[in-house]
Formats: sequence, structure tokens, C-alpha cells
Amino acid sequence: MTQKIYVTRKIPDAGMKLLEEQGYDMEVNPEDRVLNPRELLEKVRGRDGVLCLLTDNIDAEVIEAAAGCKVFSNYAVGFNNVDIEACRRRGIVVTNTPGVLTDATADHAWALLLGVARRLVESDGFLRTGNWDGWGPLQYLGVDVTGATLGIVGAGRIGTGFGLRSAGFNMRVLYTASSENGELNSKVGARRVDLDTLLAESDFVSLHVPFNESTRHLIGAPELARMKPTAVIINTSRGPVVDEKALVAALERGHIGGAGLDVYEDEPGLVPGLVDLPNTVLTPHTASATRTARSRMATLAAGNLIAVLKGEEPKHRVV
Ligand code: DGY
Repeated sequence: MTQKIYVTRKIPDAGMKLLEEQGYDMEVNPEDRVLNPRELLEKVRGRDGVLCLLTDNIDAEVIEAAAGCKVFSNYAVGFNNVDIEACRRRGIVVTNTPGVLTDATADHAWALLLGVARRLVESDGFLRTGNWDGWGPLQYLGVDVTGATLGIVGAGRIGTGFGLRSAGFNMRVLYTASSENGELNSKVGARRVDLDTLLAESDFVSLHVPFNESTRHLIGAPELARMKPTAVIINTSRGPVVDEKALVAALERGHIGGAGLDVYEDEPGLVPGLVDLPNTVLTPHTASATRTARSRMATLAAGNLIAVLKGEEPKHRVV
């Protein structure tokens, strides 16, 4: 019998083509938008496989509605949007797309870091409004990146890629991780420390931990208070890793120097006050948004779904 699949939002062509070649009975959300919870519940019914996005909340109710579904293939490396335990109980495979977005995300974290350090968005805005009357010795003074201390919270794939990119900046590199990271240690002379030490000693703190209940608000008011008043925080992991209200308060009061954020606690909503802060650079969850990375994610997500429906082991199984 022809297998039925649902794609919750169109992904890049490389992945769509792979799915089309399988001859599935395939339905794709015709609109370029997130399905609302009611639509999602309806659309997963009677499918053998679902290709979903990080913006789809695959909770216990959706999983129950998807009775008979064999796989949720998540088009993301993060899978905090899927109730993994509920899938495990029902024997539904969950897959993700690690590896292919490591470089894009690490690059973007650096773009945010440099953007905040050198006040790129603020000074660009100033220029565009036609207010510039010429060079000035005190205009838009930023902070040095070269020679500064870099703190990496979570030295997994992306955290490691981010840390290795510091080589040209002659930085002192600190990281937190559950074990020593030989690559960071040997290539950039990095040192594993505890979170308190990292926060107290770093000029730039970049977050690269997965989001789960143990990392919710890993950075809250007490942690922000440990940071230097000039320090910059970068988040390309998941929004809820940071207590955003506490972050806004810390930035407003000058307890830390700046923030570069790509992810938010309640996307697409932003916590009040955040957009009014000049010492922030904010991007709309686009750290993995290069054509190559998104296309590879599509190939991987489609391949994972196809493998499961063929009864084979997918490349990247979460559960
Ligand atoms: C992911 O894959 O988890 C990223 O957040 C997508 O940008």
C-alpha cells in the first residue's frame, strides 16, 4: 500500500525532490507558515511519516492523533519541540539533522559577537539616518575581541566549531563540558572550567547547550550578576536557556555590556524592552540559514524519513 506522509512546511528543493521520488501519497502544507495546533492535529492523522519543523509542537496530543505514524523526522538538530518520551512509549522513531549546520551556526555566533563588540547595527543605523558629520575620536567605541577571554558554554559540535574559529583572534578560551575537549585544548589552548569561573572570567560568553529541563534558564539573574559589566553574551542555542526578562534587566542596568541573540524564549514573540536596547544585535533564528546548510538539512531530514519508512536505520535517530 502507498505510504502516506505529511510535510508541515515546504523545505528546500533537495529534500522535497527526494521525498517526491519515493512515490508517497504526500501532502505538503501549501502555505509558507506554521500550522496552528488544531491544523497540526488534523494533518498528522493517518500518516505513516511526518516531516516536521522546530516550530511544530509535537506534544502528547499530536503523537496520539498520529497513531500508526512510524516517524517524526525533525528538520533541525534541536528536538526540544518533540515529546521524546511519548514517542518512545509508542515506538515512534524521531530523527534530527546534526552536523550539517555546525559551520553555519558557529559562523553566525561569530557574526553576532563581532556585531555587538563593534556596534555594527547601531553605527549602521546612525549612518543611514544621515546624521554623520564626519570622523570623531569618541564615536561608537566598542570592545576589543583580539586578546579577550572567550567562554563557551557547552563544547559539543557547534561549541567546538565556534571555539576553533577564535584561533585568529589570539584569545584565551574557556569552556564548560562534561568531559575534556581534546580538539579545543590542543588547537586553541582551551581550558575546561566550571560555569561560575567561565562567567566571571569571560569577556564573551557564547551558549551552545541543547535545551532541556536541566538547561532551562541556565543563565538567569544570578549567573548574569557573575559576569563582567563589559561582558557580551551570545545565544544561538535555544531561547529558554536564558531567562530573557533577567537578561533585559541586566542589559538595562549595565550589569553586562551587550547581547547577540538569534533565539528567544517565546518565538516569534520578544520579551518587552529587548528591541529598545541599543547594545543588542538580534536575528530571527537564522543561525543555520545559509543555502548550503538548509539544503543539507533538507536532504538529511528527507533521508531519515525515507530510511525509517523502508524499515532501515536512519542516519540520525534521536529515539
Ligand atoms: C536547529 O536545527 O535546531 C536550529 O535551531 C535551526 O536553525
